[in-house]
Amino acid sequence: MSNQQPGFDERLATTQSILEKIAQEFSPAVFASSLAAEDMVLTDLILRNQLSIGIFSLETGRLHAETLGMIDKIKSVYGADITLYKPAQAAVDQYVTQHGLNAFYDSVEMRKECCRIRKVEPLNRALAGKKAWVTGQRRSQAATRTELAVQEDDVAHGMQKFNPLADWSEEDVWHYIRSNNVPYNPLHDKSYPSIGCEPCTRAIQPGEDVRAGRWWWENPESKECGLHVVDGKLVRINKA
Ligand code: ADX
Ligand code: SF4
Repeated sequence: MSNQQPGFDERLATTQSILEKIAQEFSPAVFASSLAAEDMVLTDLILRNQLSIGIFSLETGRLHAETLGMIDKIKSVYGADITLYKPAQAAVDQYVTQHGLNAFYDSVEMRKECCRIRKVEPLNRALAGKKAWVTGQRRSQAATRTELAVQEDDVAHGMQKFNPLADWSEEDVWHYIRSNNVPYNPLHDKSYPSIGCEPCTRAIQPGEDVRAGRWWWENPESKECGLHVVDGKLVRINKA
């Protein structure tokens, strides 16, 4: 998994220069980290080079202990704090009382409502007042991401959105992690290539798609949590 793929050095150099441009020209900018592998690559690039891009996580209240453990790991390896945004307690309580703690298994609507309360609304708070935000999305991750651009006009949030790993492969991610000794979520070694909330993520079987363990009871087309969706549609306006 850690062999260097052709063109890796160029992809890395491009990613580094995009991050530098964001820090210099789009301040204040923030990076949304799910604490999974791609996001640890970006965390490493930002913190090692002391780029002025704040790092935050949406702490949904339903993350795995292993994922939460990455917050302390980042603190011990880099001496840096990740800002945590949590859902509004009143909204969580209302959802749980009306529909049940795990109502997201019942329908796509109930699932999206849980993601709205636990991720999308906190994301809006995290992005308020910023000029740009950064994600660890890659094109080859999902059916919904094949058109992903490095820079997008995020009309809904009124700012630029950058996906500096858009053209990285999974091999690129692991090559970077191994060759730079980047800490990573131990669940990745237990057949979890993609990690979200605990009740909505499971291990995949050999040969399965990398996102097969995310919201596995839904169709691939609906498997986006709303962080990267506006009015029910993915926003893909290529500015690059
Ligand atoms: S998701 O939309 O299916 O949940 P995925 O797990 O692939 O997304 O992550 C894609 C990108 O969304 C991550 O690289 C990160 O930038 C952002 N993201 C996802 N979950 C979180 C989270 N809990 N906190 C902050 N950012 C997140
Ligand atoms: Fe809720 Fe699952 Fe969405 Fe997490 S991923 S916010 S638990 S529906």
